[in-house]
Amino acid sequence: MNIAVLPGDGIGPEIIAEAVKVLQRIAQDGFDFTFETAPVGGAAYAASGHPLPEATLNLAKAADAVLFGAVGDWKYDTLERHLRPEQAILGLRKNLGLFANLRPAILYAELADASSLKPEVVSGLDILIVRELTGDIYFGQPRGRRTAPDGAFAGQPEAFDTMRYSRPEIERIAHVAFKAAQGRNKRLTSVDKANVLETFQFWKDVVTEVGQQYPDVQLDHMYVDNAAMQLVKAPKKFDVIVTGNMFGDILSDEASMLTGSIGMLPSASLNEKGQGLYEPSHGSAPDIAGQGIANPLATILSAAMMLRHSLGLPEQADRIEAAVQKALAQGLRTPDIHAPGTQKVSTAQMGDAVVAALG
Ligand code: IPM
Ligand code: MN
Repeated sequence: MNIAVLPGDGIGPEIIAEAVKVLQRIAQDGFDFTFETAPVGGAAYAASGHPLPEATLNLAKAADAVLFGAVGDWKYDTLERHLRPEQAILGLRKNLGLFANLRPAILYAELADASSLKPEVVSGLDILIVRELTGDIYFGQPRGRRTAPDGAFAGQPEAFDTMRYSRPEIERIAHVAFKAAQGRNKRLTSVDKANVLETFQFWKDVVTEVGQQYPDVQLDHMYVDNAAMQLVKAPKKFDVIVTGNMFGDILSDEASMLTGSIGMLPSASLNEKGQGLYEPSHGSAPDIAGQGIANPLATILSAAMMLRHSLGLPEQADRIEAAVQKALAQGLRTPDIHAPGTQKVSTAQMGDAVVAALG
């Protein structure tokens, strides 16, 4: 099984090293993993002048799965957009057709106190956000800058993006979400802004239609502003949430904080062939890079998702998740989730603890 490893920028290399450590421990039990590493993001731009070099893209395309760290650094914010580090992850998603982004938000019992919400509101939280990842205003054309042709500010410079979704794009993400709900508590909330946006009235109509094929799943619809409120008011009422690219981006960051730290939230981005890219939901955090204090658990949990969704090793995925729980139960915490009565550990110590817990 060929795994393309793309560490990226900031804390990316540190957290990826721990996830690879964990996978290497799993490999010792009789699995054949080959790791091939390539530069991506700002690191790739610095080395070769492009955030997603052709060789990196080809490696990712040929791999059975991609393990991705994080990209981005302020020092690249002034580059032209197509050269910025973020273009690497957007380009990988688009080129590999990774339309289905799964972001589970699970609160480990050990972290109930780390959540920003009261324990009674969040304890036992286990929700799944299914975010459409290759459409919406992120990729819609046209986009750009121009001189405003009409309206009160005609003749003034303006900028514009295009929000759009096609029927097949909505149908395929809806199927992923309904199937995920079937494997869980059989409730699906489709999040939209149908009261204002044409795109999301269409979204709602198509999701409703697809829902007729899943009579066992209870479907409801919620406006995104209300969903943002409900996530902090009564998050446990959700089971699976399906939404567009931009709303999913925002709501998944919000959901991550319920789990104690954004450093706990893994993700899987899948295409129609079952290939996947696995990355923590958090960013590159350049402010803490190189200090050995980043939380590697979101990346380790992403590696577990990789075993489950792309490499056909669900038992090994369960094993990693149990080992993460064990490390937390031992009271080990990276600084992002450190609290009185727990033991502060480094990025590498946390990775070692997960490896040790694997037995
Ligand atoms: C994410 C990130 C990306 C996104 C950025 C880095 C392009 O925030 O994966 O959630 O907006 O999708
Ligand atoms: Mn995001």
